Amino acid sequence: MDTPVSRITINRLHPLFVAEVTGIDLSVPVSREDFRVIWDAFNEHQILVFRDQHFTDETQIAFGRNFGELETMIAHPGNDWNPGHISVMTNLGKDGNFLPLDHPAMVHRTRNEEWHSDSSFKPVAALASMLAAHIVPPVGGNTDFASGRAAYEDLPAERKAALENLTALHRMTYRDMASDTGYNDEDKKRHIVTHPVIRTNPVNGRKALYVGSHAQEIVGMPPEEGAKLLDELTAFVTQPKYFYSHPWRDGDAVMWDNRCTLHRATTFDKTKYKRKLHRTTIAGKAPDTAFGVMPQK
Ligand code: OGA
Ligand code: MN
Repeated sequence: MDTPVSRITINRLHPLFVAEVTGIDLSVPVSREDFRVIWDAFNEHQILVFRDQHFTDETQIAFGRNFGELETMIAHPGNDWNPGHISVMTNLGKDGNFLPLDHPAMVHRTRNEEWHSDSSFKPVAALASMLAAHIVPPVGGNTDFASGRAAYEDLPAERKAALENLTALHRMTYRDMASDTGYNDEDKKRHIVTHPVIRTNPVNGRKALYVGSHAQEIVGMPPEEGAKLLDELTAFVTQPKYFYSHPWRDGDAVMWDNRCTLHRATTFDKTKYKRKLHRTTIAGKAPDTAFGVMPQK
């Protein structure tokens, strides 16, 4: 019998990260050979843009499970208070009509327009997230990405050494301080966690800056100094050379590695164009080295 040959094709979309993946239908179970190709590409390229997909929530969840456990979102305004494995990024209500801009779900989702890494405010942050397009606006509403790995690799050796053992405090409500709709005092206290500023991918040993708007302070540094350093690092990671903006097309499903990239939503005419993307989030594991080998099903 012939060894199965994968028909998957992978093309880089940016000189430093982001690959387009075609030639595979992810709505049916993925063979171990194909998953190996996807797993290797994920670790190498950090962002995968799958084209021509036709996910239902069930098949999107099933594909995500190749990578491990999925996060379960608590009920909050961003998912219309529906707890579960799917978060819906949309400007539409359940009836399919536009939501008013001051609706709590809209206010909540606007916070995604700041650079962040998903679930960095959880004790074990997310491994990956996938957004699958259901309705895409004709203009605007891109998702922007930046590579904390490419940025880290360009730092001078002394700077890398100085950052090596720093730990940051991350907090869910930090980026939302101005309008903290949807969180009670308990939530705010519970979600202060720490993560290293430099994270290492155990598969290939590549290191990345792990920052973003949830990170607010550096352990052992005066608060203003820590905040200034974190803002500087986020600005460094998100400069044009480490930046990719994804214009959504019908059939796109984009998966990103939360360990080494930041992302943000961008605005669009939310009273004129419809946008609906469904997200699954793959839970991390502690320690990070647990992902040193391909996950088993
Ligand atoms: C997310 C997110 C960005 C977008 O779903 O985690 O940040 O473009 N979404 O909707
Ligand atoms: Mn996000």
